[in-house]
Amino acid sequence: MLFVTGGAGFIGSNFILDYLSASDGQDDAILNIDKLTYAGNPYNLAGLAKDSRYIFSQTDIGDQTAITQLFQQYRPRAIINFAAESHVDRSIHSPDEFIRTNVNGTFNLLEVARRYRAELAADEQAAFRFLHVSTDEVYGTLGPDDAPFSETRPYAPNSPYSASKAASDHLVRAYHHTYGLPTLTTNCSNNYGPFHFPEKLIPLVITNALDDKPLPIYGDGMQIRDWLFVSDHCTAIRKVLADGKPGETYNIGGWNEKANIDVVNTLCDMLDQLSPKATGSYRDQITFIKDRPGHDRRYAIDAGKIQRELGWRPAETFESGIRKTVEWYLRHPTWVANVRSGAYLNWMERQYGAGSST
Ligand code: NAD
Ligand code: DAU
Repeated sequence: MLFVTGGAGFIGSNFILDYLSASDGQDDAILNIDKLTYAGNPYNLAGLAKDSRYIFSQTDIGDQTAITQLFQQYRPRAIINFAAESHVDRSIHSPDEFIRTNVNGTFNLLEVARRYRAELAADEQAAFRFLHVSTDEVYGTLGPDDAPFSETRPYAPNSPYSASKAASDHLVRAYHHTYGLPTLTTNCSNNYGPFHFPEKLIPLVITNALDDKPLPIYGDGMQIRDWLFVSDHCTAIRKVLADGKPGETYNIGGWNEKANIDVVNTLCDMLDQLSPKATGSYRDQITFIKDRPGHDRRYAIDAGKIQRELGWRPAETFESGIRKTVEWYLRHPTWVANVRSGAYLNWMERQYGAGSST
């Protein structure tokens, strides 16, 4: 049994679908532990409703009693912690929830996992893994000529979001160093792909473009992000879980540095091709607006370690991944409409009744 927290979110739901369909000899069932915040969308995993390998529990990772009970009941061999508040803009306006979930919630998982593992047989203790999914934002910002972030780069988080992720990474490190908990930490760059919540740049631009709304670019649009197609991130996490060395961290990235304005122009051009407007180009909707406070200028990941040590490298280029992404959004107007209207928030209740859980 594998525990996945935050499995109803963007990367978590891609991971669960990917894991359960992969044919690499893994035969685990998955327990998805998700509080279902605004970012959790169980509809992403509707296709697994009849799959006996998939179980859902609507639980807050900060709830010590409930998490302890789940460990005792399901006895996982590993836990992968995706659960987090993930949006930088929200962390600027209301940081509290970021501290509660990202810091206190991760602490709670570590503490419950430590106690649970202590009662396992020696071989099970050795095999147990706590994989913590983190971000490149913990390293702060790069200048134009700086080398990409390697695993030895000092932490310098700049937003409440990245500070909360950095704090959780430090706790994970401390639990390995102090208690010998077999932890693995991954620091990944910007993901994109199916099920991406349209508050983030790429899905926001695609969905706003199709709704004939402005495409908001913060500041001058010359900030750089390093884009990774989400299925490549999922493959990397499976690799780290299977072969990563306890106590180590692995940077994951797509070797795809792009300025935001170039990303938005690419999306507009692709939409012009795949879903043309009656007149003009989607580029006409681009609107420059006030910059994000404290906006990091450039992120870039050196993914050399995971390639050398675990043999992982991304399969998608930015061009192939972005085309798949735009095509996915064009093929899934109902998913987009449900997310935009908030209808997805009631989906669980409609399917299984109020207060549904394991
Ligand atoms: P997301 O916001 O789409 O999903 C987060 C999920 O966590 C949601 O399903 C939400 O309901 C759940 N959740 C939130 N608080 C919870 C709590 N207290 N208890 C249980 N569940 C809770 O996030 P995402 O983009 O899928 O990111 C997943 C993880 O990957 C995060 O830890 C994030 O920091 C990290 N990450 C994301 C990216 C990216 O580009 N999206 C890049 C690097 C790392
Ligand atoms: O780098 C990894 C991080 O990537 C993850 O840890 C975060 O969870 C994830 O949300 C993402 O953070 P960003 O802040 O980089 O992603 P976002 O999509 O919000 O913004 C991408 C860039 O686009 C960033 O420079 C801000 C800019 N932007 C964003 C939005 C929403 C705009 O110019 N306009 C917008 O409307």
